[in-house]
Amino acid sequence: MNTFLARTVGLVVAGLLALAGCTPPDATSPSASAGASAGATPSATPTSGGATFAPFPADSVIGVALPDTTTRWTRVGAKFEAELAAAGFTPDVRYTADNVDVAQQQGQITEMIDEGARVILVAAVNGTALSAQVEAAKAAGVTVIAFDRLINDTAAVDFYVAYNMHLVGGLQATALLAGLAAHQPGETTYTIELFSGSPNDPTADWFFEGAMGVLQPKIDDGTLVVASGQTGRPQTATGNWDPANSRARMDTLLSTYYSGTAPDGVLAPNDIVAQSVIKACQAVGAPIPVLTGQDSTPEGVASIMSGAQNMTLYESLLALVDRAVVMAQDLQQGNAPQVNDSTTYDNGVKFVPSFLLVPVTVTKANAASAYQDDPDLYALTQP
Ligand code: BGC
Repeated sequence: MNTFLARTVGLVVAGLLALAGCTPPDATSPSASAGASAGATPSATPTSGGATFAPFPADSVIGVALPDTTTRWTRVGAKFEAELAAAGFTPDVRYTADNVDVAQQQGQITEMIDEGARVILVAAVNGTALSAQVEAAKAAGVTVIAFDRLINDTAAVDFYVAYNMHLVGGLQATALLAGLAAHQPGETTYTIELFSGSPNDPTADWFFEGAMGVLQPKIDDGTLVVASGQTGRPQTATGNWDPANSRARMDTLLSTYYSGTAPDGVLAPNDIVAQSVIKACQAVGAPIPVLTGQDSTPEGVASIMSGAQNMTLYESLLALVDRAVVMAQDLQQGNAPQVNDSTTYDNGVKFVPSFLLVPVTVTKANAASAYQDDPDLYALTQP
């Protein structure tokens, strides 16, 4: 096992143990998140590398650059608009069209710098294509926070705020195994297929590595059989997170390896990919596999309640956006924001000081209680 994989497995196992031994942590609580999110999160507060921050006016522009206009991100954007305004800031929330147009996002960041933003939060379309823009921001005295997706290959990203991305994959894989056992009790082997996310998104690497840390031993011992043999990140990728791409791949997998039937299970990295897998199966009259997901999108939650998608992850947008806004408030006061991890997320140049929150596994059984703080999602769990 290479060092990175060993570290990933360690993180996932530690995280699962932390989650298994206690009630779901309150992701809004910094100390709870710090304590529960794996060995990655020491309870002490690491410093922000000794950096100092100058206070700025309370009504300053805070820029937020988001990667596409799916509900996963428009819900985040709406929350940012409301929370930043409530905190007295001037929000500037932008979206890129469909997770593709790197130049558009680069231009948005440049415009935010030009309009005097004091903090810019970015969920990158391409995690390795923003060095010039974040370095320009740094030179202009702007603090850059990578939001959900890390920005790689530059020292100019100041902070990272996200759910624990390694843990995401581990929880998906664990739920896949549990779902297979529940749906086919007594079976000793299962066929599965694997999907991963956009090649441009570093988080997609971590999801997949986290999942494979759990699944690979089961593939090696023959419990899981990947009929296509496609177990690598490039083979399983979903370009630009576009469901048309995962749908096309699932169509091909079904026609090539499953003729009229379907694998017992599918690792899908998020709800959008899971839904495209369901559509591919329905199109050929094949059964729907045990399917993972992520994001608790309204579509995904409705699918779970109807019995199609097996699980998703709840990563409270409220908690994540709140944490990002608290970071902006700390910076406005001239204080270093609190972080709870400085040793996990290496962007190729440095370990980026991070605040990591803990995702929660959601199935039909716990959906209503899991979504109690989100009225829109909670409503979907009610008959
Ligand atoms: C996020 C996921 C999301 C995906 C597609 C990733 O960066 O972490 O939550 O499903 O992007 O939008």
